[in-house]
Amino acid sequence: MKTAQTVLTENLREEPYASVLCYPKASEAEVKGRIVELREHGVKAVEFAGEASAFNVPVLGKGFVGVVVIAHLNGQRVALKIRRVDADRLGLQDEAQMLSKANAVQVGPRLIGVSSNFLLMQLIDGATLPEWLDAHKEQAHVRGVVNEVLEQCWRLDSAGLDHGELSKAPKHIIVDKQLQPWIVDFESASVNRKPANVTSICQFLFTSGGGVAKAVAEVLGARNREEIISALRTYKHDKTRKNFDSVLQACFS
Ligand SMILES: Nc1ncnc2c1ncn2[C@@H]1O[C@H](COP(=O)(O)OP(=O)(O)O)[C@@H](O)[C@H]1O
Ligand SMILES: [Mg+2]
Repeated sequence: MKTAQTVLTENLREEPYASVLCYPKASEAEVKGRIVELREHGVKAVEFAGEASAFNVPVLGKGFVGVVVIAHLNGQRVALKIRRVDADRLGLQDEAQMLSKANAVQVGPRLIGVSSNFLLMQLIDGATLPEWLDAHKEQAHVRGVVNEVLEQCWRLDSAGLDHGELSKAPKHIIVDKQLQPWIVDFESASVNRKPANVTSICQFLFTSGGGVAKAVAEVLGARNREEIISALRTYKHDKTRKNFDSVLQACFS
């Protein structure tokens, strides 16, 4: 891991921080504007730390829309998603709206604030699910985490909110030190699609045959794939708690 560094907001105009703030390419005007925007949120400093990196600076994560770092706000450490200058969206407001709908059913990091280029939310201190599974082989723990992920997906389905990126989700579930899983990144979420959170996550965790499904099967034992697929088919057509319970049954029995 690269050394963590805390930089006062006004010093973010210096390289390499300016380039991270305006990833992947900074201009003087953009840097200036973003520092003003960050100050308006009350962010005093940014802490660069984490397993990912941007311009050789450690960050929490990086995707196609944003770079996520730690921000110091009102004496607390929070997560700050910085909109990439090359992101294919104009602002982070839509994502914030989806996150707030998820929050309403106790899913996702708590939304703190948003503007065009910044989304502030609760900081999740943990490891992505694949990393966590690499280090945790205790059956009760894995079962607890997987069960809670499914319950959260059920709540999203019930709220009519489709996350959209849970079938290829290696970086979108973070497990914290208290063994609590968190679903992150609602940038592709929508209330205008049929929600498929439970179905997508079950494919990812149980039936896909991918790395995460293998790690889960290694600890929980091989599942009856046909039974899971059949329970999901019924659930897909009628998303009742009873049908969801049958999915859980197929996944855990
Ligand atoms: N609230 C958070 N706390 C800690 N890490 C986070 C948080 N939100 C996102 N991350 C990390 O940053 C990565 C990139 O964020 P994400 O929202 O997925 O960006 P993108 O929309 O560009 O894919 C995530 O995959 C995750 O590992
Ligand atoms: Mg992402």
